Amino acid sequence: MTDPFYTLGIETSCDETAVAILRGETDLVANLVYSQAKIHARYGGVVPEVASRDHLRKLPYLAHDALAQADLSLDDISLVAATYGPGLVGPLLVGLSYGKGIAFGREIPFIGVNHLEGHIFAHRLTTPKVPPPFMTLIVSGGHTSLVEVKAYGEYQLVGATVDDAAGEALDKVGKMLGIGYPAGAEIDRLAQQGDPTAIPFPRPMSSSPGFDFSFAGLKTAVLYHLKKNTREKQEDVAASFLASVVDVLTKKSLEATRRYHLERLVVVGGVAANSHLRERLTSDGKERGIDVLFPERSYCTDNAAMIAAAGAFHHLSAGESHPLSLAPQPSLSL
Ligand code: KG4
Ligand code: ZN
Repeated sequence: MTDPFYTLGIETSCDETAVAILRGETDLVANLVYSQAKIHARYGGVVPEVASRDHLRKLPYLAHDALAQADLSLDDISLVAATYGPGLVGPLLVGLSYGKGIAFGREIPFIGVNHLEGHIFAHRLTTPKVPPPFMTLIVSGGHTSLVEVKAYGEYQLVGATVDDAAGEALDKVGKMLGIGYPAGAEIDRLAQQGDPTAIPFPRPMSSSPGFDFSFAGLKTAVLYHLKKNTREKQEDVAASFLASVVDVLTKKSLEATRRYHLERLVVVGGVAANSHLRERLTSDGKERGIDVLFPERSYCTDNAAMIAAAGAFHHLSAGESHPLSLAPQPSLSL
């Protein structure tokens, strides 16, 4: 291992182009995220081909700027880590190929990172002194899963959504309310001004056994409610809908933590940036003697710092790397 050991992290699985540089396993020296959200907003969701082309356009500039910010050159990089799934195949291919090109050209190792594991490593970046075991709720635009983290690299799936992810439901309800894509942060803001008890939306699967989730029915309930009640206040709909999402996520996650005899719950992914979810889980966790932790907000939504952290961990602790033939895996699971 060269000293210091720098990892160049690349994330392009959806609509964020991101590059980060990590020293060692947790010391971040550059972290740049460029969001394509504005480009996709006019279509109401991510258009894969448009996303691929924009990643291709922006990625070299981000890598250049990240190196400049860290006052490094490519000569200083010891490892390249890029997301290889899950995600959109075109966007994944762009980041993966770019990363492989650098690794090949500089004759340094390359490692593909599972995006979901990356989200878990956002916790390690923010709170390196709180190691596993813990329960993790991964709650994002593409996933809603409960995972027991026995050790970094050792995971057991405890439950997952049977249909829509929580973030996906938030974005779809946002569309019904006329909010631009992505809607999570705006629903968060609107809900601060609304009454969460105004509309009694269902709490899907909250009393069913097991730890699976379902958000498609809730989304449909909002749609029917809006059709029947055209004069409903946007703030009340946002607050009532979010209350239902937060309620289900809180109950299931804390119960899973208790059932697996764990003392700690770590909440990661874009929806973990939600202020209502952060507040409720923290206070209900306290009542039940469960320590609930969230990464800093900027590490919750997609970024390359978490990808570099997961890649550096696997390489430095187990000597792992991947051949340059590694293909994107759009449906990769943990
Ligand atoms: O982790 P992420 O950036 O991308 C995926 O891997 O999917 O998560 C994106 C999701 C979107 O659905 C977005 O609406 C949601 O996270 N989101 C939020 C907030 N910020 C982003 N949802 C609720 N409250 C927020 N503050
Ligand atoms: Zn993500």
